[in-house]
Amino acid sequence: MAAMINTENLSKNYGAGRGISNLTMEVPEKSIFGFIGPNGSGKTTTIKCLCGLIIPTSGRGWIDGLEVLPKNIQQIKAKIGYLPDEFGVYEQMSVWEYLDFFGAAYKIRPAQRKQRIYEVLELTDSSHMIDYQVSSLSRGMHQKIGIAKTMLHDPKVLILDEPANGLDPHARIEMRKTILRLKEIGKTIMLSSHILPELSAICDRVAIIEKAKLLVQGPIKEITRSLQEKIQLLIEVDSDLDAAVKACKEFDNVENASVSVNEIRVDYQGNRTQVADLNAHLIKAGVRIQSISEIEVDLENVFLTVTSKHEQRQDDDSGDDDKAANDARERILDRMGKEE
Ligand SMILES: Nc1ncnc2c1ncn2[C@@H]1O[C@H](COP(=O)(O)OP(=O)(O)OP(=O)(O)O)[C@@H](O)[C@H]1O
Ligand SMILES: [Mg+2]
Repeated sequence: MAAMINTENLSKNYGAGRGISNLTMEVPEKSIFGFIGPNGSGKTTTIKCLCGLIIPTSGRGWIDGLEVLPKNIQQIKAKIGYLPDEFGVYEQMSVWEYLDFFGAAYKIRPAQRKQRIYEVLELTDSSHMIDYQVSSLSRGMHQKIGIAKTMLHDPKVLILDEPANGLDPHARIEMRKTILRLKEIGKTIMLSSHILPELSAICDRVAIIEKAKLLVQGPIKEITRSLQEKIQLLIEVDSDLDAAVKACKEFDNVENASVSVNEIRVDYQGNRTQVADLNAHLIKAGVRIQSISEIEVDLENVFLTVTSKHEQRQDDDSGDDDKAANDARERILDRMGKEE
């Protein structure tokens, strides 16, 4: 699939290792891309470079094939709907007046503007808020109206900086639904987050950034699998549990096996194809297996694994940042290759 957003060695140097350094990444069109990293890692800096709000120190960025350069800024703006991490709303206005004001700023003609406002409110499930005073909106409503605003000029790309920040669990679910709806109508969405579980479930791909460097990017499943040091299995049996644990432990690649409620939890060091051998071994030992399933690692654990390895390497290499990030990346890619 064609890339809708891409960067090549994008860098913004604020001094003392701050900013972003040599970011090369790709966001396929009509996908949801999670840009994940802790506070101060460089998410907003990257986003602002992509929106043409700050000029990179070096490197390049493209939106829908058009390079983000001052001379292209009007076209870039037409392609992007940008939701900043903090945005002031005009408290004394109604939602209608607020959207009408920005519709006018986007030069949407009055005749079309009304229709467009209804559409964006419907898309963000906010039609009922049309006459609400902006000052009365909850945080969740505020974010939805913010997204409605970014959609007014019907951009191809939505770049949402921490859209779920400060939302309660219910509002987060609503936000997920809104973002999925936008994907359904063909938008490409890049969203940043420092809290992993909040939106990662809906992302097709993620990139993890830490301390200005991109550590890894790709489909979530590929990343999680490549980073798993061991596979964890849950085995349901219809025979004696202790005997089954003993049989598991006899198998070469099993690191640990224990009873968990009425299943067996196994830490397994081999690759996935060898799970069949474990299955055969257990049957031979007289274990009656009902099911074997793999416990999926969640992205939060992956994130901690990637970033802690990066930290560790940085400590080891005392300041050789590029090498540490490259090594982390190479190890991950290496393991991704092995898994295939
Ligand atoms: N205008 C600026 N001048 C100097 N340093 C800056 C500027 N903007 C950002 N930085 C620094 O660059 C680094 C990355 O900041 P950025 O805002 O991109 O991080 P972030 O990942 O968006 O963090 P957060 O999760 O807190 O929003 C930080 O160390 C920050 O202090
Ligand atoms: Mg930020």
